[in-house]
Amino acid sequence: MNNFIELSNLSKAFVTQRRINVLKKINYKFKKGKIYSLIGPSGSGKSTLLNILSLIDRPTSGSILIENNQIDFENSKKNDLIRARKIGIIYQQDNLLSDFTAIENIYLASLAAGNKKDFAIKKSKNLLRRVGLTGRSNHYPSQLSGGEKQRISIARALINNPQIILADEPTGSLDLDTAKSVFEILKKQINPNRIIIFATHNRFFADKSDCLLEIVNGNINTIDA
Ligand SMILES: Nc1ncnc2c1ncn2[C@@H]1O[C@H](COP(=O)(O)OP(=O)(O)OP(=O)(O)O)[C@@H](O)[C@H]1O
Ligand SMILES: [Mg+2]
Repeated sequence: MNNFIELSNLSKAFVTQRRINVLKKINYKFKKGKIYSLIGPSGSGKSTLLNILSLIDRPTSGSILIENNQIDFENSKKNDLIRARKIGIIYQQDNLLSDFTAIENIYLASLAAGNKKDFAIKKSKNLLRRVGLTGRSNHYPSQLSGGEKQRISIARALINNPQIILADEPTGSLDLDTAKSVFEILKKQINPNRIIIFATHNRFFADKSDCLLEIVNGNINTIDA
């Protein structure tokens, strides 16, 4: 009964000059306490699925239940709040705000979830310590290395203690050693009440998850569980 995210007949098509059916009636239940990796060739729909799970994009048909509550994709205000409170998102390229320092990038996500500034700053300092970047608190993104930026992105994704962490190729732009250290930090964030799902092209990291999922022809294949 620890199902946490349930996809029912989830489909997504993009219609430009022609219609591309990217996700085709996916049925899948993600369980709490696990880290999932999502693999599949370029263009298979990994980012598409993560964008729908982050409630940024909407499915063409089908539904998503989070903790047994069906997501209403018409209600973007409510979904913005769900995202701010429950979901932490990490992208391949750092998505930090360039005009804000490392610590500001982290605590702004806490303010967005409705928290007070004192509380947000205190939590940000703790998170900076957890990702080993206390000394970079006042650096702007342009003054950080790629690996440091990804660690700040992880800290930002964690600040609201999200139950769901979605990461789209979080180590994709890093050299192998840096990628390994960033991945270890990500993996440490798993706990019994949380789900982590990350897309990757790197089989080495994919194999380190609890459950390896592959998108094949618009569907999810479980490679191991
Ligand atoms: N906004 C969009 N409009 C039209 N087509 C899109 C759009 N977004 C994605 N697609 C198409 O959907 C398919 C899946 O794209 P997606 O970005 O999900 O792939 P991916 O598995 O993340 O690939 P990669 O490994 O390269 O990141 C691709 O064929 C892409 O061209
Ligand atoms: Mg992608």
